[in-house]
Amino acid sequence: MILWRPMRGDDLPAVLRIAETLHPDYPERIEVFADKLAFFPAGCRVVEDADGAIRGYAFAHVWSQGLPPLLDQPLGPLPGPADCLHLHDIALMPQIRGHGGATLYLNQLEALAQARGLPALTLIAIKGQDGFWRGLGFKEFIAPTAELTARLGSYGSGNSYLCRDVTKLKESDTQTA
Ligand SMILES: CC(C)(COP(=O)(O)OP(=O)(O)OC[C@H]1O[C@@H](n2cnc3c(N)ncnc32)[C@H](O)[C@@H]1OP(=O)(O)O)[C@@H](O)C(=O)NCCC(=O)NCCS
Repeated sequence: MILWRPMRGDDLPAVLRIAETLHPDYPERIEVFADKLAFFPAGCRVVEDADGAIRGYAFAHVWSQGLPPLLDQPLGPLPGPADCLHLHDIALMPQIRGHGGATLYLNQLEALAQARGLPALTLIAIKGQDGFWRGLGFKEFIAPTAELTARLGSYGSGNSYLCRDVTKLKESDTQTA
């Protein structure tokens, strides 16, 4: 069973190692991870195994629809209204994949969005992961702008900005993997 727990500052070196292994084309500095953790700790979680090793992480934060943050930059002020939870990244090491870990984290995020009155989850699906997110109900953002295209460009080419409405969850969806 996958168990997510809140991320702590001392998890960040292990988080960085996973990010460097799984996302070599999307490098981010540890200061940028620390900025996201300080900005919205409720959205930042890790998977720790029985030996105390970190095997996965996820960063999400309150943000503005259609205006995703730039890669490897501190967040700064919101560029618009606080109207979504933006999933910046989720990464699980291969040995813990396929056990519902991503689904469980998403359900937890959705519960968080509901509790904060945020109507949508947003994310940037990196090249090759589009199908995964569409399978989980994410769709193309309905009102793309030139600014969205410019922000997306900081991640390179071939990535997509996707969105999913927040729906009502059963309580059990956020508790089991
Ligand atoms: C993306 C990732 C977090 C998914 O982790 P996971 O443990 O496989 O997720 P889950 O077990 O919750 O799978 C959720 C569903 O997606 C399906 N799925 C998994 N990988 C898929 C893929 N590449 N394409 C399509 N569907 C996929 C699963 O079969 C499952 O469906 P089911 O519930 O009907 O069985 C993991 O593969 C990963 O860390 N990848 C590398 C980092 C990455 O690309 N992150 C995303 C950045 S946008």
